[in-house]
Amino acid sequence: MALCNLESMLLKAQKEQYAVGSFDIFNIEMLKGVLGAAEETRSPVIVAYGEAFEELLPMESFARTVIDMAQRATVPVAVHLDHAVSFDLIVRAVHCGFTSVMIDASDKSLEDNIEITRKVVEVCRALNVSVEAELGHVSGLGTLYESDEHIYTDVQQAKYFTEQTQVDALAVSIGTVHGVHKEAPRLNLKRLKEIRAVVSQPLVLHGGSGLSEQDFRNTIIDGICKVNIYTDLTLAALDSIRNSAMDMRLSYIDQCVMIADAVKREAIRKMKIFGCCGKAD
Ligand code: 13P
Repeated sequence: MALCNLESMLLKAQKEQYAVGSFDIFNIEMLKGVLGAAEETRSPVIVAYGEAFEELLPMESFARTVIDMAQRATVPVAVHLDHAVSFDLIVRAVHCGFTSVMIDASDKSLEDNIEITRKVVEVCRALNVSVEAELGHVSGLGTLYESDEHIYTDVQQAKYFTEQTQVDALAVSIGTVHGVHKEAPRLNLKRLKEIRAVVSQPLVLHGGSGLSEQDFRNTIIDGICKVNIYTDLTLAALDSIRNSAMDMRLSYIDQCVMIADAVKREAIRKMKIFGCCGKAD
């Protein structure tokens, strides 16, 4: 089954109304946990890498390891570059075999975002690498207020943007934030429905950690086909470390295996909610 193009993975999800989990990872424990979850539940899965991880694991080394493990997997695995802000980083990712990239020019003007995204689509399309872009902005703030509505994705701009760029997937801002939430998020499902009505491409939800099961179900019904998760995997790993750190009978490798298991349990929990279990076959 192995390496898979993001576009085909998401078009199937869109047709059958489920979402694929995109998990940001930077070490072997997380990779083992996420791939193990996908195998156990027969789910397609997206393994994602962010530039911030470079400090721990260079992109080229990540790609070699993940692509090798993806090729041995019996479920579809897409290898994705998350939130790239520079064209150079995207070129590096394409060179080392990523199957999709996200160009994040969401802090730019609409016209600049279109121009930058178009250039990425032009290069990637020729190489069968899928492209995700973001319109509106998913912030890193712990809470969004009504006064933050200006960073939500505008419906008419979403239509114009996707027509002009022909991206394979669009990340939308509808009330989620990256990282730990200070208060329960208030999702603007009406906005999501309106975007869905005018955009044919699969929609992506960033900042998936901390959302309720009902939030996920609502957004998937309204067109979300890919959900990004990072924080909840790290919290599961941290819990495992905190619970077993003082147990002197455990070796370091025992601890690492326990972390991988904790990440796997959290990824399985998410996959069950996303409705992607059994969709690998
Ligand atoms: P969380 O850290 O909130 O799960 O967000 C992950 C994300 O959206 C990565 O792009």
